[in-house]
Amino acid sequence: MKEIKNYPLLPHNTFGMDVKASVFVEYTSVAELKTVLSNKDYFRGSWLHIGGGSNLLFTGDYDGVIFHSAIRGYEVVRENDEEVEVRVGAGEVWDDFVAYSVKSGWYGAENLSLIPGEVGASAVQNIGAYGAEAKDLIVTVETVEMATGKERVFANAECRYAYRESIFKQELKGKYIVTYVTYRLSKLPVFNLEYGNVRGELEKKGCEVTLDNVRNTIIAVREIKLPDPKLQGNAGSFFMNPIVPRAQFEALQATYPDIPHYDLGGDRVKIPAAWMIDRCGWKGKQVGRAGVHNKQALVLVNCGGATGDEVIALSKQIQESVYRTFGVNISPEVNFI
Ligand code: EPU
Repeated sequence: MKEIKNYPLLPHNTFGMDVKASVFVEYTSVAELKTVLSNKDYFRGSWLHIGGGSNLLFTGDYDGVIFHSAIRGYEVVRENDEEVEVRVGAGEVWDDFVAYSVKSGWYGAENLSLIPGEVGASAVQNIGAYGAEAKDLIVTVETVEMATGKERVFANAECRYAYRESIFKQELKGKYIVTYVTYRLSKLPVFNLEYGNVRGELEKKGCEVTLDNVRNTIIAVREIKLPDPKLQGNAGSFFMNPIVPRAQFEALQATYPDIPHYDLGGDRVKIPAAWMIDRCGWKGKQVGRAGVHNKQALVLVNCGGATGDEVIALSKQIQESVYRTFGVNISPEVNFI
């Protein structure tokens, strides 16, 4: 276990905010986590558990305790000729797990290549890209309850997964800490290439459809569209894609016949926030030291030395302008701290 006072958070937030935490605590096992939880001193004031810091926006120094998991390791816990189940430590880097799966010849995680963050957050946030979501792979989520230090295993259905949602972000927010996630992958080829023209990109390059090629294609597409946080601070998609009632979507479609959308069935239609932000003319714009990425309007960037408040001010202007034009509310996916 590691406890550091006055700890610089710059390496722990991809937005590149140069702020400090009063105390930073990192644990490497479930036993250490339980010891941490039994220390009342840590819980007298504010506390926050972080993962890779790729979905956080700090607005100033953090006056409290920040916890981070360094629980590591991969373990195959079940396998047959068709499937394999791998139990992974919450502190592993998500993309290392994807790389490991692809190298092992296991199918299912490749579309989620290069998503920043750690394994624990994949289960809380239900990360997703290119038609795949973590929830499609998750079998169980092992946790420790903050209040009691008791272990509890959540089956997939108990996690109440939805688009970028889970029980850990709703009624159990701040109540359980994820320690291990078990994912089920396929040993038989199953690809998911229709979303975002992944197949088209493979064909353009004259590539055979293999695990490696799909992973490399997704990485290439992401690298073109999304800024590298090492070069320009950002937290990936800043807003979630809003889901609106069908009637509202149809009214919008009458005015904007080219509006992209994903029909979720029933009364729900998802509209890409990026398209609306782009249509409002925000792409590539800069306000103070915060800006809108010039290749993907959903991504807000730190143009150098921006404060969290500057980014929030820009995000508010964007929300207002999207609402004025389309009558649709867009909510941040990023957490303001
Ligand atoms: N679009 C624009 N202008 C832009 C960008 C996109 O008009 O500047 C249009 C595109 O033409 C397309 C639509 O908006 O019709 C959707 O764009 P894209 O496929 O790039 O995906 P997205 O909905 O903007 C989501 C995820 C990303 C994920 C991609 C690919 C959310 C909030 N974001 O973005 O996730 O990589 O799909 O599957 O769901 C992240 O969460 O950090 C993230 C990057």
